[in-house]
Amino acid sequence: MCGIVGFTGNHQAAPILLDGLSKLEYRGYDSAGLAVRDGEHLAQVVKAKGRLSNLSEKTDSGKALKGTCGIGHTRWATHGEPSQINAHPHVSGNCERSGSGTVESEVVGVHNGIIENYTELKEKLLKHGYTFYSDTDTEVVIKLVDYYYKKYNLGPIDAIAKTMVRVRGSYALELMFKDYPGEIWVARKDSPMIIGIADGETYVASDVPAILKYTRNVYYIGNLEFAKLVPGEAHFYDLNGDEIEKETTEIKWDAEAAEKAGFEHFMMKEIYEQPKAIRDTLNSVVKDGVIDFTDIDITEEEIKKYSQIYIVACGSAWHVGVEAQYVIEELAQIPVRVELASEFRYREMPLVKDGLVIVISQSGETADTLAAMRMAKDKGLATLAVVNVIGSSIAREADKVFYTLAGPEISVATTKGYSAQLAALDCIAVQFAKVKGLITDEQYSYYISELQTIPEKIEKILQDKERIQWFAAKYANAHDVFFVGRGVDYAVCLEGSLKLKEISYIHSEAYAAGELKHGTISLIEDNILVIGVLTQSKLYEKTVSNMMECKSRGAYLMGVTNYGNYEMEDKVDFTVYVPKVDEHFMGSLAVIPLQLLGYYVSVAKGLDVDKPRNLAKSVTVE
Ligand code: F6R
Repeated sequence: MCGIVGFTGNHQAAPILLDGLSKLEYRGYDSAGLAVRDGEHLAQVVKAKGRLSNLSEKTDSGKALKGTCGIGHTRWATHGEPSQINAHPHVSGNCERSGSGTVESEVVGVHNGIIENYTELKEKLLKHGYTFYSDTDTEVVIKLVDYYYKKYNLGPIDAIAKTMVRVRGSYALELMFKDYPGEIWVARKDSPMIIGIADGETYVASDVPAILKYTRNVYYIGNLEFAKLVPGEAHFYDLNGDEIEKETTEIKWDAEAAEKAGFEHFMMKEIYEQPKAIRDTLNSVVKDGVIDFTDIDITEEEIKKYSQIYIVACGSAWHVGVEAQYVIEELAQIPVRVELASEFRYREMPLVKDGLVIVISQSGETADTLAAMRMAKDKGLATLAVVNVIGSSIAREADKVFYTLAGPEISVATTKGYSAQLAALDCIAVQFAKVKGLITDEQYSYYISELQTIPEKIEKILQDKERIQWFAAKYANAHDVFFVGRGVDYAVCLEGSLKLKEISYIHSEAYAAGELKHGTISLIEDNILVIGVLTQSKLYEKTVSNMMECKSRGAYLMGVTNYGNYEMEDKVDFTVYVPKVDEHFMGSLAVIPLQLLGYYVSVAKGLDVDKPRNLAKSVTVE
């Protein structure tokens, strides 16, 4: 959802900004732009439509822009088509159609987020003589800053505070004022932003990977706060313009974790990192063979009290919730409702007061999930966030946090983030069952040791990836694919289907296998690929029957099942076996061949695996 970067210090800013943007391109890649100032000289703006490489080419890898203070942006279009004029930075004055050149304006800025009342603000500004060259909400907010700046003549603090009070929506905003060389002013509400400090240098970015190469000392800027950045220092303010004291936090991530490490794509690297992501996540709570939630701060009394669980998330994280629903209900006997955050946040449903709301989010910044969690908190429910990014908005606002330890996930399509979330939810299911006295000590130890075998079993599946690669090449031209399964297998199908469609652009649907004959089976015709997931022994025969119904209508069948179910070979056209683990956790293994399938189909079609069209990694708009 757009990435922003900024730098002020002793080095040339443009190459640093381009480097930072290259780490944030996963957040949007419709267009990109830079504004750089050389001391007291006016800012130079350069923008380019399309990928960051176009901007890099246009600026001779940044060398064409002189100056040690600057801001940059990579865009995922919300208001206004992807074009050069709509690309950021935007300016408070008039602008050439190209959008590039020397900036005479008082204010130049970049923005990630959505200004909801921008039409109303635009009308106000039009009445005050402002004109607009782009279709963006960002140009409006920058002109509003300019309006207050000139009206009160009290400097950036006053102008920014007044703008923040007037604007509705979300923003991570970076501004440079003509009269304040060497300074970057930033403001934040509901969009991610971190500020990095090194000796004599200050960095700002939407996400950690953009600055990790330069510093590990960061400030988290809170909601409705703003800051002045000068070389080596950051000064924070609240909406009244009063200064706020803040401490820096040290980022522990390994810088290499955000690089490709010899893999062709981040997605494949992250598929391979799944055993580690799961192992690290399990090890963070399993101590001496038992699950210990002390760090998460959930007491046994609280666990016994929860009479209802709501799992709220978006996309793949929601699929984790669907799978966890089966596991938690079966093991811990607590009713679970799995809700799409974008629906839940606006629903007027009666909520059980002693219910627990589990929000799941890799980024910790998904706008709908954050809003749904706030709504649940306002209604007095306890919230537990399962989050990967430390210090993210959801992590900071939840009552309790279970961190997944997947490390930075760069590929837009999640893999290791998803798997680590699943491991976390499985731990919750097992621990809740134990605390509620529903499983014996032996069963408890058995479940934990089964979970601990998952990483090595994934490694085994990955050794056989060439078979999937071969199959993917054969089916790369498919138009429609159906995934069917029951119970936990259905949840795996949801994820397998999303992986395929989002990176290979093949239409696919996931169905609870028994539901197919209530309408969708009419779409099955000769050679349509139907992928069945069959890891649940009590549902195995049922799903086989549903697949046979498809076969008799001409479908080509692929089955994903566990070793031992060898009769599958006689029934389907292509079988993939995965090792066995306790059936509650089979989803963690069955999903791997489906991730590989999506990946290899995308590669076979020559698509951009890590940055699929129209998508962005962190969805900070609703
Ligand atoms: C799909 C994918 C998305 C995310 C969803 C939620 O591969 O990655 O569906 O799962 O946008 O994102 P987080 O987990 O960051 O809240």
